[in-house]
Amino acid sequence: MKEANKNSHSQPSVTDQYRSVNVEITTTHNSDLKNLVVPRYTEEEHETWAIMFDRQFRTLPGRASQEYLDALKLLNLPTKRIPKLIDVSAVLEKATGWKLTRVAGLVPEKEFFECLSQKLFPCTDFIRARSELEYTPSPDMFHDIFGHIPLITNQTFADFYEFFGRAALNADSEMLTKLQRIYWFTVEFGLIRNPEGLRVYGSGILSSIGESLWALGPNVRVHPFDYKVVENQFYEIFHMQEDVFAIESFDWLLESFRNYAVKNRLLPAGA
Ligand SMILES: [Fe+2]
Repeated sequence: MKEANKNSHSQPSVTDQYRSVNVEITTTHNSDLKNLVVPRYTEEEHETWAIMFDRQFRTLPGRASQEYLDALKLLNLPTKRIPKLIDVSAVLEKATGWKLTRVAGLVPEKEFFECLSQKLFPCTDFIRARSELEYTPSPDMFHDIFGHIPLITNQTFADFYEFFGRAALNADSEMLTKLQRIYWFTVEFGLIRNPEGLRVYGSGILSSIGESLWALGPNVRVHPFDYKVVENQFYEIFHMQEDVFAIESFDWLLESFRNYAVKNRLLPAGA
């Protein structure tokens, strides 16, 4: 398999890869959404949201997993205007008890995993420039809200996500590299075998037109999700993914990750 089994220390972390293109890394997050000043979005920014929403929404049939489609329906996002974090957070909290916390950019790993362990999703409130419709190196609120939030309303996925945060807080640097690869090939670029066929649940794919059209195409090798392979699988964040991994179900993901974390002493037995 391409790039697999490289030494686990040979790969820069996701954060370091973002740093290399000058994406801001910030340590502050604010979960007090009631007192948060909502940015004054321009009409062009609202239109950017509307264009991206419409374009991505049209790619979903036959590509997005049923769980994601159900979750997106539940979330009931505005299609023409940029949503307020407080409104999205309210739906999320009602569904699974998770909430949003506002961030100004990428959060360092430790703070990010602390948030997940507390059922908080760090979410940006800025939208990409119109010139970045095809691609932005820095995840914006379209990626965060359209890509990530829907599945956090799914209790099984949300539980996996919380376990992931708790486990990552107990990881040493070598284990953290492995966990980041697992994160990459699940949360960001994961595929799932639905009864209807192979489908996408990864937010990095579902929020990107290029990745959406590429992901189930002929140039992508789809492997069964095997922790032994994925934890050693090299990836680069600024290239289309050529190797991806398919899980059987979210129940499988939750249980297998729990077992993986216990076996690696990242979570206590019986977690
Ligand atoms: Fe993401």
